[in-house]
Amino acid sequence: MSISIVILAAGKGSRMKSTTPKVLHEISGKAMLFHAIDAAQKISDDITVVLYHQAQRVQEAIESHYDNVNFHMQDAEQFPGTGGAMKGVRTKYGKTLILNGDMPLITQNSLLALTNGDADINMSVITLDNPSGYGRVIIESEKVQEIVEEKDCLPLQKSTKTVNAGIYCVNSELLNRYIPKLNNNNAQKEYYLTDIVKMAVYENKTVSPIYVEEGEFKGVNSKYDLAKAEEIMQRRIKIALMDAGVTMRLPDTIYIDSRATFEGECILENGVSIQGTTHINASHIKTNSVIEDAIIENSDVGPMGRVRPQTHLKNSHIGNFVEVKKSTLTGVKAGHLAYIGDATIDEGSNIGAGVITCNYDGKNKYKTTIGKNVFVGSDVQLVAPVTIENDVLIAAGTTVTKDVKQGELAISRIQTKNIADFFYKFFNKEK
Ligand code: UD1
Ligand code: CA
Repeated sequence: MSISIVILAAGKGSRMKSTTPKVLHEISGKAMLFHAIDAAQKISDDITVVLYHQAQRVQEAIESHYDNVNFHMQDAEQFPGTGGAMKGVRTKYGKTLILNGDMPLITQNSLLALTNGDADINMSVITLDNPSGYGRVIIESEKVQEIVEEKDCLPLQKSTKTVNAGIYCVNSELLNRYIPKLNNNNAQKEYYLTDIVKMAVYENKTVSPIYVEEGEFKGVNSKYDLAKAEEIMQRRIKIALMDAGVTMRLPDTIYIDSRATFEGECILENGVSIQGTTHINASHIKTNSVIEDAIIENSDVGPMGRVRPQTHLKNSHIGNFVEVKKSTLTGVKAGHLAYIGDATIDEGSNIGAGVITCNYDGKNKYKTTIGKNVFVGSDVQLVAPVTIENDVLIAAGTTVTKDVKQGELAISRIQTKNIADFFYKFFNKEK
């Protein structure tokens, strides 16, 4: 589609009270700005992001994820404000869609709706019970007259509930003519992009208000807004997954990263947290388990299981209080209270309660390799690097410090000594 998109991301975001640039704050595992870029990329091949505050950090973050985004540096010292941000921006196509970088909930469909028709300016408006913080849209005889920022509002204007949602689709030629004419005669001494509306009205151009849902056009200015936007995003992610067949028990208690993917019939119980680029296929994740950047296929985890990055579980059972990190488990049972890190465990093997792979010596990490049909008894320590071959028994309480060959029993244990009537002597009691 022949439309250019400009995303404004140069602002300081001081209301976030953070050293992280506002647009890099994450919602469901992805920077706000990246949610906006993803939606933009679905409808345009000419995307420009305007930068200024912490420009290098934001640009590097974008470049590590996208290779077809253009950048424009705002001269924010001389020309602060959203209008200043547009100064000098050159776009390729006849229509330019401008959106704020702090609108992570926007979707491709809503962006498209703003590009329809042949008005000179399409602008997004919402009607809000509480319009505070937004620019008010002054409409007379069903015609948009101007946008007045809250700080510039006359008392009467302040009660206007129709507000500017922050996305505009503008005839590019008009935009190039209006931007140089903006001034900063306002409460904030900034160049407001929103003033192009009254310039267009003055020239009898058509300005068409497009009424939109708050759910998609919410601007994020504070940590509270961030949390609220995340709630909306979470609801959206979960509804889409349930529509695709994922079963969720008490979905409001579940967190799912926007990058996570599901396949086959999956069940997520209450309190589950699915983080990062996790992929889950035909598996059951039970109450209060935490999964991060892992692949889980045809397995069950929890309740209260923890599966950490670079883990691949296949046909396995991971029970309560078991932590698995950077390990590949195929056809394995680890039912209770274990730490499995930097390990490969093969089919038919059983990991008892209290088993620990001692993978770290304080300097380096080492691997544990366990073959097929290995029975690792309770409370075993596997001091890595160590290899356990197929068909092995490891007795409860053993500290394994050398490789175990096929068919062997490994046992390291002090003999139990039973001392008769010691109890009565110790507590001075009669038998
Ligand atoms: C802006 C609108 C307001 C609208 C609201 C919707 C203006 C003047 N006001 O207000 O009418 O209701 O969005 O959410 O446009 N930015 C720059 N350079 C700057 C200043 C801002 O690139 O010099 C970027 C910011 O990074 C941000 C976006 O522009 O992504 C909006 O800036 P922000 O300060 O959040 O504007 P609002 O006060 O929310
Ligand atoms: Ca804003």
